[in-house]
Amino acid sequence: MEQVVLHDCADKLLEWYRANYREFPWREEPTPYHVWLSEIMLQQTRIEAAMPYYFRFLQEVPDIPTLAALPEDRLLKLWEGLGYYSRARNLQKAARIVCDQYDGELPADYDALLALPGIGDYAAGAIASIAFAIPVSAVDGNVMRVLARLCGDDTDVLSSRAKRHFATIADRMVPSSDPGAFNQALMELGETVCLPNTAPRCDACPIREHCTAYAEGTTLELPVRIKRTKRRVEHRTVALVVDRSGCVPRVRS
Ligand code: ADE
Repeated sequence: MEQVVLHDCADKLLEWYRANYREFPWREEPTPYHVWLSEIMLQQTRIEAAMPYYFRFLQEVPDIPTLAALPEDRLLKLWEGLGYYSRARNLQKAARIVCDQYDGELPADYDALLALPGIGDYAAGAIASIAFAIPVSAVDGNVMRVLARLCGDDTDVLSSRAKRHFATIADRMVPSSDPGAFNQALMELGETVCLPNTAPRCDACPIREHCTAYAEGTTLELPVRIKRTKRRVEHRTVALVVDRSGCVPRVRS
């Protein structure tokens, strides 16, 4: 898609987001710690479900040094119900590194964030852009769906190259002013308008005029998701009976 069109989409998305964003607690006071905690909680948990945990966690663990020093049983208790406990353990591991290496403050640097336990491309992009206004993309499943439909892109979103592929498109759209609002606009559009598994609400979409899938009537076919069946590994003992001529008359297993 041409650069001018991507720019126009970014402008329209920002305008739409400013008029329609939902008021979440981490948006009211987007400190690096708040953004980090919320993004980790939201990775495998729906926003409404995560909200009470977010409040409870912050009440007992208001900052990174407190997180670093929290006894593990308290940490796991606060995470109980959210599941995927490795998220909580990595959060604490990272908090200890941040205290040792960065004086208790998350680094304002994408690569330094990415190097911390539990922070992958998506979370590093979200924290860098929302908390530090660094112009990098943050591509999750919602964002891939929006971009696949916008560009009519049939890249398999379950493939290993998909995230990188869609990140290069998103990187061409991220504005230098308020990149955090832009990334959240893409996420929000995916969560509330450009819906999965059902007819998207194209009538409410601010970038419908540029959307290839809308124009071609392929919104329900995109994004492409090719399910892989797991390769079954079987361990068998095989006897080969070879006759004098070197032929294999029978194979038994
Ligand atoms: N999903 C995960 N993080 C989000 C955010 N910051 N805004 C909207 N949706 C999200």
